[in-house]
Amino acid sequence: MTVLDQLEQFEEEALASIHRAEDLEEIQAIRVKYLGREGLITGILRGIGDLPPDQRADVGQRGNAVKQAIESALEEAEACLERARRRAQFEAQRLDVTAPGKPWAPGNYHPLGQTFDQVLDILVSMGYAIVRGPEVEKEWYNFSGLNIQDDHPARDMQDSFYVTEDVVLRSQTSPIQLRHMQAVAPEIPVRIVGPGRTYRRDTEDMSHSPVFHQCEALLIDQEVTFGQLRWTLTAFARRLFGPSVDVRFRPSHFPFTEPSAEVDISCMFCHGQGCSTCKGSGFLEILGAGMVHPQVLINGGYDPDLVSGFAFGMGIERLTMLKYGISDLRLLYRNDTRFLAQF
Ligand code: DAH
Repeated sequence: MTVLDQLEQFEEEALASIHRAEDLEEIQAIRVKYLGREGLITGILRGIGDLPPDQRADVGQRGNAVKQAIESALEEAEACLERARRRAQFEAQRLDVTAPGKPWAPGNYHPLGQTFDQVLDILVSMGYAIVRGPEVEKEWYNFSGLNIQDDHPARDMQDSFYVTEDVVLRSQTSPIQLRHMQAVAPEIPVRIVGPGRTYRRDTEDMSHSPVFHQCEALLIDQEVTFGQLRWTLTAFARRLFGPSVDVRFRPSHFPFTEPSAEVDISCMFCHGQGCSTCKGSGFLEILGAGMVHPQVLINGGYDPDLVSGFAFGMGIERLTMLKYGISDLRLLYRNDTRFLAQF
């Protein structure tokens, strides 16, 4: 077989196998086999110098033509396979816009947030403005300025979180009263509500949490009476718990109010008959209240001979548990969606 015949044969074989190739790897293998550094065509072209002089020109010409033909067949096949590969890829990635979506469970508003909103809505509708105060509070605003004596148990390191000797994580929202008074005194009337997070060194259990929420309210004006406090809290409790609840004031003691009261509503679980929730009393405590102590007015920058006021404070967890009949406070913090979805 002459070299020219060999070239013919290689060309024929190469073109046939290019035609049959099914992927880019095969094409690459064919390229290497014929045109690579050790390739069959390369070998012939490289061997031209060893041929008799009269064959060299023909073999050179024919060899280059075959090389060209194989190369362009390879490129064409490559382009074709590449198009097919992309078509297949697009096909595989095709989006079915009619397919049903993945189910998506919408979240819902946390019951504590709902109670907070209701409490604030009611008080704002009564003319109270929302104000806030720091959670990391000076000892004076949290205790001394509110008339809480040095030997009061709440001041114990066991009961409150101390940041330094005279800075605490506020254990109540009552310091908001004092800060607000100082900010606006001697202006009247004052009608504010102060919601926020509060902290106490309590171990978590059914009714305690080291972090909880309170809402404080303060009203100062000329000649504010205990009767006005009663009216306000009765209206408030009926809007929050329903128009049929009875409201009861029980004498109590808070250092920053005089007189002080604890406010109960008739138990909505037994309608005052006595049940396990109200421990047989027929009533449930909802908040603490009283007439602002003259010394607290003075600390806030007011003259107790010219103005008087009332204040009340409530725990949002407690109100939420009563409103929804939740028996364990910890449920409010577990964020189990099966629980939360019920509200
Ligand atoms: N600060 C009190 C507490 O944490 C609640 C309270 C009681 C607030 C009476 C008041 C009040 O403003 O007048 O238990």
